[in-house]
Amino acid sequence: MKSLKEIKDLKNKKVLLRVDFNVPIGKEGSVDKGEDWRIRATLPTIEYLIKKHAKIILLSHLGRPDGKVVEEFRLGPVQDRLSELLGLSVIKTPDCTGNVVRETVDEMKAGEIVLLENLRFHKEEEENDDNFAKELASLGDIYVNDAFSVSHRAHASVHAITRHLPSYAGLLLEKEIGILTDAINNPKRPATIIIGGAKAETKLPVIKYLMDKFDHILVGGVVANVILKAKGIDIGKSLLAIWIRKKLKK
Ligand code: 3PG
Repeated sequence: MKSLKEIKDLKNKKVLLRVDFNVPIGKEGSVDKGEDWRIRATLPTIEYLIKKHAKIILLSHLGRPDGKVVEEFRLGPVQDRLSELLGLSVIKTPDCTGNVVRETVDEMKAGEIVLLENLRFHKEEEENDDNFAKELASLGDIYVNDAFSVSHRAHASVHAITRHLPSYAGLLLEKEIGILTDAINNPKRPATIIIGGAKAETKLPVIKYLMDKFDHILVGGVVANVILKAKGIDIGKSLLAIWIRKKLKK
């Protein structure tokens, strides 16, 4: 994928920027304190686009609402936190497609930011539906992926959309790929990698791939629990990945 920095003229261009604002929302309905790092990480790309006088249309998912509107997964709290961090007003649309979205985008001025509502309120997003991707694409001139953490998903806003617009990598995506490529290809020996998190199903193939590239692999969180459980070790009430829990219930 080409780099966003290769685009010569971004002035007044409508840039669809796919970000990953999948952040925990607290009980009081705002982004949990200290959990806004995914929003902060995209600021360099957003600020770069503002400086270049582009019109910035942000696309994100939040949670797993399974193709339905789920109030707790609305992006309002993200809009508020992003506005605070940028010191600028961010407009949010009530949906990610439809007339209101189109009108809002048509009225945008250079340097303005519009955040579209949660993509996963439409089942077509996770189905990688080409018509849905086309509709999203019709809102912009250029597509930029800055969402490394969801780039393993063949979803409409990550995959199908690239068939319909000139597509580029954002500054964050480039940085993350650069750091990872370096760590995997030129690790300083002895090299140890630490892997944790809740979604063990996507981590286990990665661990397998990295096994002969690193000297040690340390696992924590749910990933460790799954491995311990598979070895027959009692993990008490510790969390297991959802898909394992489902399998064990069968
Ligand atoms: C994540 O938090 O890992 C990414 O946002 C992807 O979310 P997903 O696992 O629900 O696709």
